[in-house]
This record gives sequence, C-alpha cells and structure tokens, in this order.
Amino acid sequence: MNKKNHTNLLTATLGDSRLWPADHIDVLMKSISGIAPSKLGDDARYAFFKFFETVALPAVMDISPITLTGSHGIEHTHGVGRFSLDVSLSLDYNPVPALFAAALHDCARQHNAYDEEHGPNAVPVAKKLFAGKLGDWLGKAEQKSVIIAIRDHTIGMNAKNPISAALWDADRIRLSWSWGYEPEYFSTNEGRRIAGLPMAKWDSVLNVHNAMIKRLESERKSLR
Ligand SMILES: [Fe+2]
Ligand SMILES: [Fe+2]
Repeated sequence: MNKKNHTNLLTATLGDSRLWPADHIDVLMKSISGIAPSKLGDDARYAFFKFFETVALPAVMDISPITLTGSHGIEHTHGVGRFSLDVSLSLDYNPVPALFAAALHDCARQHNAYDEEHGPNAVPVAKKLFAGKLGDWLGKAEQKSVIIAIRDHTIGMNAKNPISAALWDADRIRLSWSWGYEPEYFSTNEGRRIAGLPMAKWDSVLNVHNAMIKRLESERKSLR
C-alpha cells in the first residue's frame, strides 16, 4: 500500500493525524510516570491513540497485503488498536506494546477468510520491523511478548500476559460486534464488558472516543 492511500484513510477516519506528532510520546510517557494507566485522562488516551495512528499503523500498512475494508482489513485493525488501548489501560498496563500488537496482528493475512496460519506467519514480519526503527519504541522483553501475542492470537483462548490479553480481547470485541459475543473467549473484565454491550450501545462507545478526539482537536486548533 502506498503512503497516499493510508494518509487518505487516516485523514478520512479521524481528521488531521498530524496534530499530535509521534515524537511527543516521549514527553507523554514522562508526564504520566507515576500515574496509574487506568487513571489517565482524555489527553493521554488521545495521545496514545494518535501514536497508534501515526506510528504503528502506517508502518504495518506499508508492508502488509491486507485490504482497507473487510472483516480483517485495516478498518478492523484500527478498531482493534482502539480497544487494545481501552483494555491495556483497564489492566493498569502501559498500552504501547499492545498498540503495536494490534497494528501487527493481521499483517500476514492474505484474505478475509478463516486462516489460523496468519498469526504464526506474522512473526517474521514483526521481527523484521522491530529490527528496524520500530524496535526503538519497545524493550526486547516487550518485543518478545508482542510477538507471542501476535503468533498465538489465532489459536489462544485466554491469556494471563497483559499484552496478549489486550490484543486478543480487542480483536474479539471487534469481531463480537459482527458475529456474536462468546464470553469464554475473553481474558479481561473490560473486554467482556465492551464485547457484551447491547447493539444499541455500540455507537455510544465509538461516539465517546470520536467525541473526545473531536473536542481535543478543536481545542488544539483554537490554541494556534
Ligand atoms: Fe487475526
Ligand atoms: Fe483481527
């Protein structure tokens, strides 16, 4: 996929993705040190999501054959990133590893049909990306946990590791909304809570996030 296409997608999805430059994540991490992730405010959540959109997701879109739409396309991955953030923070865990896991989890899919092999097939892709610039964002132990989360997401049932738990639950939340909710396939209370919301609430969950992003973007525009 070329850069123009994914720039168009990101712009169409959430407006100007460059309002919060990716290198601000370092400032963000310092500013929130000592604060429990589950207590982070909207500003920090927004910054992490922008990090996903401007760093993790574009890096994967540049090398992946996955489609923009479809049940496992980039739109799906975008939703998985968003829910990975929610689940990681609910576990009081730094969301950056799970955001990379979300971006990478379906990168080796060749189609949208059932396929257990795309988890293991994503491992060499992830290793290659982490050997380059993306590796700067995570320590070696976190990279290994991300790779295990990706490798096993097609066959794993429940996870104790917070990175796997966040990825698997986020993936299944998104799929539950299309295919039905099966609580035994979830690892966290937050995953079960969101996946189990009645259909009438789905828009409100998405709207909370979209409204937060719109509000913060308009505040930043007014400061210029
Ligand atoms: Fe997958
Ligand atoms: Fe997926």
